[in-house]
Amino acid sequence: QEIFLKDYKKPSFTIESVNLTFELFEEETNVTNIMKFEKLDESADLVLDAQELELKEVVLDGEVLGSDRYTHDEETLTISNVPQEFTLEIRNRIYPQKNTELEGLYKSGDIFCTQCEPEGFRRITPYLDRPDVMSIFTTTVIADQKKYPILLANGNKVHCHESFNTRHGVTWHDPHPKPSYLFALVAGDLDFITDSFVTASGNDVELNIYVDKGNSDKADHAMKSLINAMKWDEEKYGREYDLDIYNIVAVDSFNMGAMENKGLNIFNSAYVLADADTATDANFMGIESVIAHEYFHNWTGNRITCRNWFQLTLKEGLTVFRDQCFSADMNSSEVQRIQDVKALRERQFVEDASPTAHPIQPKSYISMNNFYTATVYEKGAEVIRMLHTLLGEENYRKATDLYFETFDGQAVRTDDFLWAMKEYGEFDLEHFKLWYDQSGTPSLEVEENYADGKYTLTLTQNVPNKVDGSLQKAMYFPLKIALMDKTGAVAEEKMLIISKESESFMFEGFEEKPVLSINRDFSAPVIIKHQDVDFAFLMQHDTNSFTKYEAAQEFAISILFKLMEDIESDISEYLEAFGALLELDTDLSYKALLLELPSISTLMQKQDVVDFEPLYKAKDKLSYEVAKKYEAKLLKLYFQNHEPLNSALDSKSIAKRALKNRVLSLLSALESKEIAAVAKEQYEHSLTMTDRITALDVLESIDAELSEIAFNDFYNRYKNNTLVMNKYFALLAASPREGVLDRVMALQNDEVYDEKVPNLVRSLIGVFARNYKYFHAKDGYGYKFLSDKIIEIDKINPQMASALSGAFKIYPKMIESNKKLMKATLECIVSTQGISKNTFEIVSKILK
Ligand code: ARG
Ligand code: ZN
Repeated sequence: QEIFLKDYKKPSFTIESVNLTFELFEEETNVTNIMKFEKLDESADLVLDAQELELKEVVLDGEVLGSDRYTHDEETLTISNVPQEFTLEIRNRIYPQKNTELEGLYKSGDIFCTQCEPEGFRRITPYLDRPDVMSIFTTTVIADQKKYPILLANGNKVHCHESFNTRHGVTWHDPHPKPSYLFALVAGDLDFITDSFVTASGNDVELNIYVDKGNSDKADHAMKSLINAMKWDEEKYGREYDLDIYNIVAVDSFNMGAMENKGLNIFNSAYVLADADTATDANFMGIESVIAHEYFHNWTGNRITCRNWFQLTLKEGLTVFRDQCFSADMNSSEVQRIQDVKALRERQFVEDASPTAHPIQPKSYISMNNFYTATVYEKGAEVIRMLHTLLGEENYRKATDLYFETFDGQAVRTDDFLWAMKEYGEFDLEHFKLWYDQSGTPSLEVEENYADGKYTLTLTQNVPNKVDGSLQKAMYFPLKIALMDKTGAVAEEKMLIISKESESFMFEGFEEKPVLSINRDFSAPVIIKHQDVDFAFLMQHDTNSFTKYEAAQEFAISILFKLMEDIESDISEYLEAFGALLELDTDLSYKALLLELPSISTLMQKQDVVDFEPLYKAKDKLSYEVAKKYEAKLLKLYFQNHEPLNSALDSKSIAKRALKNRVLSLLSALESKEIAAVAKEQYEHSLTMTDRITALDVLESIDAELSEIAFNDFYNRYKNNTLVMNKYFALLAASPREGVLDRVMALQNDEVYDEKVPNLVRSLIGVFARNYKYFHAKDGYGYKFLSDKIIEIDKINPQMASALSGAFKIYPKMIESNKKLMKATLECIVSTQGISKNTFEIVSKILK
């Protein structure tokens, strides 16, 4: 059953207050739910969402209703003839211990926890489970005192009940009206760290991070990130926190990264726990950004929420933009921007070119869970960034102030946000809105003309057709460019407004043809098509760190495609330009990015018909030539920056690790004994997980024997730490060595592996599905393996299964032989009896 944006109707009832009581037991949980309703639409029946609930009693204004007074089916509880105002008390039973979908109330190990966004609350108790119904929640949690000493819910703690026998209870009250998707509850035997934050207006906020017993020494970085985020939101957006307490709980079984429940964030433990011995530098950055993301939601998501789920990007696109800017301020802004764009292209561009492409504001869905996508999040963030670029920092701040003032406490639409932007911006709002309604990545063809001192730039937009084949219109966006002279001096720097299908811009007063630097800072999420570019020049002279990086990538890409045509092609010009990068005196983490060769995913996107074999061949060849030519220089760079005993997390130390590990990876193309020995040494003597992971990865690609020894050591050292074991599985699933599928299959029987834990499934199965060489093997076994897993996991956790199905998105672009094999396995999935609507929606779209 498909839900459409155009069918949206306002709710017929409001809920003034909700009073919930949870009695948690080892077999079942009893829920008592007392709601005060007001009817807005005279003739309406009360239709509550209710899924997999055992109904015990329904009491309306004190009167117990007979079963003839209501109807209860798979999805709803309906009561007709209700008065204008009334109190409804519902008692129902649920079974969190059996909840493997990890939606609603469930158990992660020994911890009771919840995940309600978008529609999990209806699996807890009957409710108007939609974001535009906001209410005031009071929650009492009662459980065994020994097993569950910590009892948490949203808001402020208002009462600790006297314990009775072995049981105790706590009542929480959240004064801010909120939709049900922000409800949360936690019960467990947890350690915690505590700190505090004084807001700009002087309120003292207690901050707690709860973790599994024994892990409290791994939460400091998360706490520091939280405090930085609170301060940043006050300074950058004028937004303060609004409760006396802010709680974060880390759990191991979680479908996503984290959840912004009011006053009680619940996190995948991967985004909380870290120390240098067990987490990589990238993990530390990930924690900083996700902690901030969830905190920022308090204003962009919670105080102002979404009218319906089609508006998801209103909170997600905006909050991702906010967390990206925060990370840029905390670290290197140029590195941050490149990494954000890389992530966008590797995930979102691929999605936008696939059968599941959708606008950042989708028009319909079968399962809303399928729309927490790179498009809604990351492309959504790029759209907000374009608004920021169009308005400028100062006006953008005025516009967001207006947005917060106007819509605080309401459930609103992306249109409402755009209205506030338009109040302080001069841009064509109606035209810009197409970004919310159209799918696909626009491309921009560049044509240059130069004569008599005049330079003309002609830009032609091409917006791909919609998935259904219909045409789409040219977009409106800011495009930052610069024109340079032959010494690299910038003669002209401009932000162009692109709004037509094709248009020309003229610049005068040049002595010779200037060099173009286009889409600086990646000011618009488009693909630039530009022939005959002097990449080597831009790699040396471009003054914009993004376009300089871009030139290095594009140069490598063009050479790789040349190698695909003829593996003996002349690549000397590229090698020379690469050599110049090695000499470059610049920030080391930026340099590490400049030296990276394009990913297989990047290359695949440039093929009309995807065939991975020639891509790998070309990339192997180029990697080898680079490493051979610069072996001595690379080794020197490695040893200059290798500090095995330095596990500090300051930016200099992180940058040094990034650079020397990049260099080591480049050198691995030589597959030499010498490099293997360097990697072995690094594995054995470095103090950081960052270094160990790179060393393992390099050993795995060069030397099966050394690799096995190191992996065994790693396993024995970390087998009791699931977060680290995720890395172990992921490294082996990404292995470039023959026979990876057999090894992945065998690893499923490892005692650490557990198909019910999403992180482990993502690490082993999910990573294998992105190991293109083996997943797309010509014998079809990769496809068969994944589709069997999808069908199996779908019965446990449909969200996980549908996420795995994403690996098949590339189907229509594959070469014929692979397509045939894929088709058979995909048909097998959709025709499986009882397949979830999550998985069905994705796979049927791919097949269409
Ligand atoms: N709102 C959460 C976040 O972005 C993600 C929740 C995702 N939930 C889901 N069922 N897909 O921080
Ligand atoms: Zn979010």
